[in-house]
Amino acid sequence: MLITGTNRGIGLEFVRQYAAQGWTVIATVRNPAVAAELAAVAAGQPNIRIEKLDVTNVAAIDALAAKYRGQAIDVIINNAGTLGDVPKQKIGSLDQAEFLAVINANTFGALKVSEAFKSHLLAGKTRKVFGMSSGLGSSAQTARRGDFYGYRASKAALNVSFRALAADWRAEGIMVGIIAPGMVETDLLRASGFPGRGITVEQSVRGMIQVIERMTFESSDKVVNYDGSVIPY
Ligand SMILES: NC(=O)c1ccc[n+]([C@@H]2O[C@H](COP(=O)([O-])OP(=O)(O)OC[C@H]3O[C@@H](n4cnc5c(N)ncnc54)[C@H](OP(=O)(O)O)[C@@H]3O)[C@@H](O)[C@H]2O)c1
Repeated sequence: MLITGTNRGIGLEFVRQYAAQGWTVIATVRNPAVAAELAAVAAGQPNIRIEKLDVTNVAAIDALAAKYRGQAIDVIINNAGTLGDVPKQKIGSLDQAEFLAVINANTFGALKVSEAFKSHLLAGKTRKVFGMSSGLGSSAQTARRGDFYGYRASKAALNVSFRALAADWRAEGIMVGIIAPGMVETDLLRASGFPGRGITVEQSVRGMIQVIERMTFESSDKVVNYDGSVIPY
């Protein structure tokens, strides 16, 4: 199992729960030196391997894939993602560099990591790779509220890219799915300014693990929320 963006929030909880189930987890972080919580989770657990990875750094992605060459990875969860700077994504103060940086991490990064680890997936038995979407990437739900232009675009682009990837890889037996965590109490949600409380990371990840386990080639055609509900494109 390989999970990106695991030093905090949802990614950290994925590591906790999967490691507790006995999975070997390659947990990637941008900066291992400041990933104290992850280090604490990994202490005494040889089945957690912490690796440095910024998903916007193509050379680093390729180097990590080369380091694990020949090793099977059953499941990849492209969890790493950024909300970006919210004011810079509002109409009236749209910032080009910020917009592109958010898409670079949330869309390109997820796709590039998947591409780089294709042979590892093929070497495994489960062969599942996931993109982490959001209700904010849903065209159908966007009429309720504006803002978050770069983040929305990045998640909508993730949805369409992962559907294309699913079509490309299906014949080779790799299942490409798109999951969403719900509204979850993390740094990202707090920075968004969304009113109201989210669910806990524990609840969200417990649900997504079930979604991941149950996903078939047929159901992988949808964006599936942590509770099994479907988010319309
Ligand atoms: N929380 C929600 O309500 C919610 C809702 C819908 C979707 N999501 C999605 O769920 C995923 C996890 O979000 P979260 O709520 O746990 O957010 P979070 O607490 O802000 O954590 C985001 C994680 O992604 C990492 N990351 C960001 N940019 C990266 C990059 N370029 N390379 C590698 N890692 C990077 C962060 O690392 P650093 O600490 O180094 O920045 C951090 O580990 C994201 O894809 C997010 O879009 C969250």
